[in-house]
Amino acid sequence: MTIETVVFPVAGKGTRFRPATLGTPKELLPVIDTPLLQFSIDEALEAGAKHLIFVTSPDKPGISHYLEATGVAGKCEVTVLMQTEQLGLGHAVNCARDSVGNRRFGVILPDDLIVAPQGCLAQMAALEHDGHSFAAIQEVSREDTGRYGIMDVSEQVGNIHHALSIVEKPAPEEAPSCLGVVGRYILEPAVFDHLAENRRGSGGEIQLTDALEKMIGAKGLAGYAFSGRRFDCGTPEGMLEATLAYARQKPSLRAVLNEQTDMANAA
Ligand code: UTP
Repeated sequence: MTIETVVFPVAGKGTRFRPATLGTPKELLPVIDTPLLQFSIDEALEAGAKHLIFVTSPDKPGISHYLEATGVAGKCEVTVLMQTEQLGLGHAVNCARDSVGNRRFGVILPDDLIVAPQGCLAQMAALEHDGHSFAAIQEVSREDTGRYGIMDVSEQVGNIHHALSIVEKPAPEEAPSCLGVVGRYILEPAVFDHLAENRRGSGGEIQLTDALEKMIGAKGLAGYAFSGRRFDCGTPEGMLEATLAYARQKPSLRAVLNEQTDMANAA
């Protein structure tokens, strides 16, 4: 199965990457030669997407310029929407409501880079579902739970974990588990009804996690333990890890890394 519509919430301020993000949107920061956004676009197309919806901000004209320069609109339908106030991820997703319509859709957060033989969204699009929504999950360390949406789960079938609860950025001592949600979702359109309530959650923002929590009672929400390696490119540390991993795959760049390691060992 494929997922035809994919939403990219790319309106965030990117404060953790200042001053770089004063000039370049976070999602266009490159891993060597490829912007984070490009990896996400490729992942969506691999999952079968025919309509890409970018929710950006008037302060980030670079996103529209990049989309025009790549000519991605020649491969599929492209919609660019503005989130004029950065009220949170949930609010950004809700900005896409009319463009998505009444169909199942994917969400990709480009600052979570996932490298896998089969793209994470394609893995999720292929899952059997009965009107469930899915969020990609991975085990995180307990000290880091305050950086993630954390899912508590009941039974597990293969890579699918049925959600009992989900909470945004709990303190380590309050986290119901260490299963952190990362930036890939396949959602039923019913999520928009919950997002439209505009409830402020963690950090005073309208959180996607809070709307997902409401989905648990109805058709259900499940976590999907994806195959692949995820880099948190929303942080300088994760971006560096991604850059080193990418460089190791390219012979010319690997030679530079080896040279640097030799020099460090000799010092
Ligand atoms: P983050 O939580 O990483 O926020 O957003 P941010 O603003 O991008 O970065 P920091 O925390 O200031 O460094 C996760 C994703 O949600 C989008 C971001 O663009 C990113 O892709 N987002 C966040 C929005 O589109 N709108 C918002 O109001 C908030």
